[in-house]
Amino acid sequence: MDAIKIDNLAYHYEDQAPLFKNFNLTIQAGDWVALVGHNGSGKSTLAKLILGLLERDDGKITVYDLPLTEENLGKAREKMGMVFQNPDNQFVGATVADDVAFGLENQQVPSQDMPAKIEAALKTVGMAAFADREPHYLSGGQKQRVALASVLALQPKIIILDEATAMLDPQGRAAVLQTLKDLKKAYGDQLTLIMITHDMDEASLADRVVVLDDGKLVLDGTPAEVFEAGDQKLKDLGLGLPFSVQVSQALKVQPPHYLNQQELLQWLLTLNK
Ligand SMILES: Nc1ncnc2c1ncn2[C@@H]1O[C@H](COP(=O)(O)OP(=O)(O)OP(=O)(O)O)[C@@H](O)[C@H]1O
Ligand SMILES: [Mg+2]
Repeated sequence: MDAIKIDNLAYHYEDQAPLFKNFNLTIQAGDWVALVGHNGSGKSTLAKLILGLLERDDGKITVYDLPLTEENLGKAREKMGMVFQNPDNQFVGATVADDVAFGLENQQVPSQDMPAKIEAALKTVGMAAFADREPHYLSGGQKQRVALASVLALQPKIIILDEATAMLDPQGRAAVLQTLKDLKKAYGDQLTLIMITHDMDEASLADRVVVLDDGKLVLDGTPAEVFEAGDQKLKDLGLGLPFSVQVSQALKVQPPHYLNQQELLQWLLTLNK
């Protein structure tokens, strides 16, 4: 099953050269996809086109077999949730619980069903104890987790995170990433994650890494494929490499193929024996 299918997409911002031309990308239901690329390569624009926040010039976008048309927009959007980079711009409620409730109200969830849904979503992100706090006074990482809870409460089939951890400290980042891993474990094929990131260690958590360069798809594969075969290309694009690859490349004796951090650690331990 395809969660998202993009065919021959074309888009340009007013008075600017086309950003996307004949762009194609299919994302399977249940995939965890990392979308990477340098500043201005078109990642956020692509996310907005998928959400129907921007109107494409040409091409077709299908969300779970639903063509993204003006008529279907509402239905298609119900399947998707988006978490943005800056958590401060996404709060509307006076309390954390109100904020989560807002999206549910928009979807006309009966009010008697709301408290349970709100509590469950806040629990998932470890923020249940903060339900009555003002979002304003939370830390960046806590805000980002509440933003994620607001999205989760709506039970979307697709979650798009646009640099959702970029503003967080290592602890806040780790907490959000752990939440994503837990969600993926709990929901499996029922949840598709599209994670826009500049952090290659974060990208290496995904099942698939898609690299954009000026609106073009230049690398696409598993982390192993992209980080092993594409390392020079990534460097040429000014993108980094995961920590595990940097360490591997610096070693006198190098591992036979791409290893993530955990695998690299295991491998190093065998060398030591
Ligand atoms: N509202 C806008 N009006 C005009 N041009 C825009 C607008 N938003 C983005 N652009 C241009 O479109 C291109 C793609 O921008 P986009 O924000 O999609 O990149 P990105 O990959 O998300 O970058 P970043 O990593 O910096 O977030 C850039 O050249 C940018 O300047
Ligand atoms: Mg962006």
